[in-house]
Amino acid sequence: MTESSDLRLRRIPLDPGAGRIPALGFGTLIPDPAETIAATRNALDAGFRHFDCAERYRNEREVGTALREGLAAAGIAREDIFVTTKVWNTNHRPERVRPAFEASLERLALTYLDLYLIHTPFAFQPGDDQDPRDQDGNVIYDREVTLLDTWKAMESLVDHGKCRAIGLSDIALETLKPIYGSARIKPSVVQVESHPYLPETELLGFCKEKGIVLLAFAPLGHGMKPGLLGDPVIAGIAARVGKTPAQVLLAWAIQRGTAVLTTPRSAARARENFDISPLPQDALDEINRIQTRQRLNPVVNTGVPGFIPQTKSTAQGK
Ligand SMILES: NC(=O)c1ccc[n+]([C@@H]2O[C@H](COP(=O)([O-])OP(=O)(O)OC[C@H]3O[C@@H](n4cnc5c(N)ncnc54)[C@H](OP(=O)(O)O)[C@@H]3O)[C@@H](O)[C@H]2O)c1
Repeated sequence: MTESSDLRLRRIPLDPGAGRIPALGFGTLIPDPAETIAATRNALDAGFRHFDCAERYRNEREVGTALREGLAAAGIAREDIFVTTKVWNTNHRPERVRPAFEASLERLALTYLDLYLIHTPFAFQPGDDQDPRDQDGNVIYDREVTLLDTWKAMESLVDHGKCRAIGLSDIALETLKPIYGSARIKPSVVQVESHPYLPETELLGFCKEKGIVLLAFAPLGHGMKPGLLGDPVIAGIAARVGKTPAQVLLAWAIQRGTAVLTTPRSAARARENFDISPLPQDALDEINRIQTRQRLNPVVNTGVPGFIPQTKSTAQGK
């Protein structure tokens, strides 16, 4: 399934005709607009060729600017990078999917996307407010649309040729299975939180069996402390192999057959997180024996994410 033994350059084939996804990806969930531009550019310059975006991150325009300028400066072709974005929960109604897709394309200043994901399986009340709440502060869900309705609208985007692959995010195995069973165009990628404290072994097994790429977010445990970066097993392996804990965690993720997203903000960390190399089998086994279990992001249960950039207008009154 994989091609290069150089983890930095590894690209995993998607379904026939859907291209190849670079296993090592850069995530653009960065609250500050200027920092988004700088970090995206740092990542491109360090060697990252896979960029994960979302309309929900409210910074697609900044990512688009950084990519356009960075590609031109380095003489890199659009076809040499892989760009993903995601449709938000308030756009699940079929008639809203294509306009949301076109709006993301316009903000990113791209003519096609490599991958479009349903950000979460939860439909929220349609409208311009990304976070619709009732007077008690509870999310207002949309009961008038099913995930399969939204998926069919995603399939038609592939039919129209502006999107090479489609997939799902923040989805549990029991929700993925019926969509997989009913889909005319099967999901190419499933993006979920995954790291040694949340290995998602059963989901990964299903994905491997069906030829779906599991794309792991929070590989460094969102950088939280205490956490994965300070885990004694990870730190011990890092010291033994002469790498940093972040490099160990990213290598483990790719060697177990997933793609992975990381979000370094400085140029130095972008270079560090790109400079990964394979771990020996005994190190992989040691990480697989870690018993700690922790889910950091509850979005998979509610559709409500954490770590979202606030614009002036959304910060007011919230
Ligand atoms: N589908 C979803 O619902 C969902 C949810 C969350 C994230 N995502 C995607 O996944 C991407 C990855 O996000 P993540 O937060 O999970 O990434 P992560 O790489 O696990 O964590 C990022 C954090 O780790 C720190 N960090 C990065 N490199 C480091 C290093 N070499 N040493 C020490 N600390 C380091 C960063 O600190 P600095 O900022 O100081 O560099 C930042 O605080 C997001 O950008 C987004 O694209 C998707």
